[in-house]
Amino acid sequence: MCGIIAYIGSREASPILIEGLKRLEYRGYDSAGLAVVGDDTLDISRSVGRVRGLEEQLGRETATFSGSMGIAHTRWATHGGVTVENAHPHRDDLGRGHSIAVVHNGIIENYLTLKKWLEEKGHVFASETDTEVLAHLIGELYDGDLERAVQAALREVTGAYAIAVVCAKEPDVMVVGRKGSPLMIGVGSNEYVVASDPSAIVAHTKQAFTLDDYSVAKLTRDSFRTSTIDNIEITPQIRELELDLGQIELGEFEHYMLKEIHEQPTALRRSLQGRLDLRGGSVVLGGITEHARHLATAKRIVFVGQGTALHAGMVGEYLVENLAKIPAEVEFASEFRYRNPIVEPGTVVIAISQSGETADTLAAIEEAKQKGALTLGLVNVVGSTISRETDAGIYLRVGPEIGVASTKAFIGQLLVTTMLAAFIGRRRFLSQEDLHNLLTAMDRVPDQVESVIAQSDQIKTATARYVNRDNWLFLGRGLNYPVALEGALKLKEISYIHAEGMPAAEMKHGPIALIDEGMPVVVVATRNSQYEKVLSNIEEVRSRGGHVIAVATEGDETIRSLCEEVFWVPDVPEPLQPLVTVVPLQLLAYHAALMRGKDVDKPRNLAKSVTVE
Ligand code: G6P
Repeated sequence: MCGIIAYIGSREASPILIEGLKRLEYRGYDSAGLAVVGDDTLDISRSVGRVRGLEEQLGRETATFSGSMGIAHTRWATHGGVTVENAHPHRDDLGRGHSIAVVHNGIIENYLTLKKWLEEKGHVFASETDTEVLAHLIGELYDGDLERAVQAALREVTGAYAIAVVCAKEPDVMVVGRKGSPLMIGVGSNEYVVASDPSAIVAHTKQAFTLDDYSVAKLTRDSFRTSTIDNIEITPQIRELELDLGQIELGEFEHYMLKEIHEQPTALRRSLQGRLDLRGGSVVLGGITEHARHLATAKRIVFVGQGTALHAGMVGEYLVENLAKIPAEVEFASEFRYRNPIVEPGTVVIAISQSGETADTLAAIEEAKQKGALTLGLVNVVGSTISRETDAGIYLRVGPEIGVASTKAFIGQLLVTTMLAAFIGRRRFLSQEDLHNLLTAMDRVPDQVESVIAQSDQIKTATARYVNRDNWLFLGRGLNYPVALEGALKLKEISYIHAEGMPAAEMKHGPIALIDEGMPVVVVATRNSQYEKVLSNIEEVRSRGGHVIAVATEGDETIRSLCEEVFWVPDVPEPLQPLVTVVPLQLLAYHAALMRGKDVDKPRNLAKSVTVE
């Protein structure tokens, strides 16, 4: 949600900023802009729409945009509509100001109070954004020292921010700051590249550090100083980024989503590596080992997350209850946070998040910590806020996910959640033999996922038969119910087809009224403890004229004879079924979106990482 890229060094800034914006565009893409500081100049260009539009606009600008320091931003609107005026960078008062420009990710919660105060002082605002208020505030407090002015301004604001600020009067200084929203500073030789995530940094340097909350960094071309907003100096830890350029480039694939679907077998293998001890019969999860006893004696386990991550948490709820026999539940992080949840001794709260930056999930973790719960993070992005804020955790290790619709991160979340449930289970009632069988089966899953992906063309053909239908249902029971929800979410996110996921049994309590001749109903109907019941649900759909697209276990002749379309998955033990059943649904959504001419990787209105509550 909103991407920031900033550069200070000896090279021309604007090409670096544009390239960085393109890499960050998955974070937000309703408008984009940049500011370049030259000798006594501050050139700003902003446009609505994609980064390539901004790039074209730059070519038409009369200003040169020449300079070796600049800031840029790709926006996902929160305050104010999608207009050029609301796009970043924002300036302090045009004409009367100090030529200060700001890019910002997050929300300044007290912006209206600050705006009123500034208006009383004669400031005139050109946009509806909270960010412009921050720019004016910095301008108001500026007395020749940008670092001081930014610190002073940040002491006045509440909310979340990652910001980069430049001032034409100080062409050798950039000040960046953060609280809540992500920001990373890449340290090159005599240059710095600041960005919302490492994907925009690795092309330039692999050395980077993250700012702590309530702190700022003053960057000059050959040095930096980090301090709290109260100006207490701090020393950041520079570390090596574990990201290669190849991991974030499209390569032979047409879209990131397709690339990431195809990467799933490799991602699973990477995530499993070193974690399954088949000989010794144990799950090795280094990140949580020291909390093993606490987990095994937990009274209650609560999963929190949003979107796709919530669906993984739903699977976690089933698995923890089944494998570990501990009462478990799952809740939208946003709801958990604001209903003053009961957190008794023995409660463990587990956040699931690809980005590790989702504001709602982070807020839920803060709430749980405050109430004394042990908190764990099942997170993909190494070093992200949730991974740092939780007591311990397990990384997904699926590599960077760029496509806005989550695929390989979901499968990674499922795998890690399953390993966690088995890890706890073995310390309670799961026998050595049952664990061994589960782990042996888990080890085979990457190859099995590969065999499902190989059916992509057949899934495409089946999708084509229904792609013009505007309403779809997705049904599943037990562990396949969250998969049905995920299948529906994927379809609506990227193809904008209306799709509802629900427990198969719930259909007859209302949604069955929707079924008419030929309506596509996707049913996850693998052979498991609920199989017979699902067969009945399929009959209910068919007798009302619905067409069933089933996800079924290879060789199931009953399903073949009952359903219009079947996507086959290998026979795997019930706890592992979501890992294979979700794959055809990802491909279905992908093909449907393409056939409808939609932008698969950047669906309208969505953002990859939602850093506001
Ligand atoms: C956004 C994304 C979803 C994602 C959710 C949670 O809404 O569009 O794809 O599932 O955030 O993100 P997280 O990074 O916490 O997994």
